[in-house]
Amino acid sequence: MSAIVLRPATPDDLPAITRIYADAVLNGTATFETVPPDEAEMGARMAAITAKGYPYIVAEDHHGAILGYAYANAFRTRPAYRWSVEDSVYIAPAAKGQGVGRRLLQRLLELCQEAGFRQMIAVIGGSDHAPSIRLHERCGFRTIGVFEASGFKFGRWIDTVLMQMPLGAGGASLPDEDAYPGTMN
Ligand SMILES: CC(C)(COP(=O)(O)OP(=O)(O)OC[C@H]1O[C@@H](n2cnc3c(N)ncnc32)[C@H](O)[C@@H]1OP(=O)(O)O)[C@@H](O)C(=O)NCCC(=O)NCCS
Repeated sequence: MSAIVLRPATPDDLPAITRIYADAVLNGTATFETVPPDEAEMGARMAAITAKGYPYIVAEDHHGAILGYAYANAFRTRPAYRWSVEDSVYIAPAAKGQGVGRRLLQRLLELCQEAGFRQMIAVIGGSDHAPSIRLHERCGFRTIGVFEASGFKFGRWIDTVLMQMPLGAGGASLPDEDAYPGTMN
């Protein structure tokens, strides 16, 4: 797909982001939420993520339409996890399968590495969720493990697949505590 711009998300993108996420909540297992959050809630989440120093980006086509979005957030909130981030990537139904997810995830990896984070962890809903597993494999992630039957949605049990990608030196060197990019401590 040509002429896609990747840029930081702004509150103006919230209507599109809310629609894209609602489709994922209602029709897929990527998220274990079952009721789509409204625009105000999505705005509060975006503000909280960016205030902590994590990247939140959108992919926009040449008409200005939002094709998808991606962000990083704390993997877990306890301080010792602060160098590890979890990624989220969501693509509008009509834009899936055209490389937008890959471009967003690659950019998110770059931004998180440049910021100084050391690991990116993907928490994927469904051992059968080929698009997400393939996307992460193509971006260099490897599968770490599976929490079996850990979710229940659409009347069936769903595995949680964990995939991981080291950023920069990963665990091979100590982080520079003075250069921590976020606000979580
Ligand atoms: C998962 C998702 C983000 C992938 O984004 P996308 O833009 O459709 O994916 P891309 O076109 O960049 O494709 C990435 C890779 O996945 C593969 N892929 C995409 N859709 C696929 C499908 N339905 N089945 C199998 N592989 C698929 C592509 O072939 C590509 O691999 P390749 O380079 O080896 O060909 C998108 O489908 C989506 O938004 N799904 C719902 C939300 C979700 O699952 N988010 C991820 C959880 S954080």
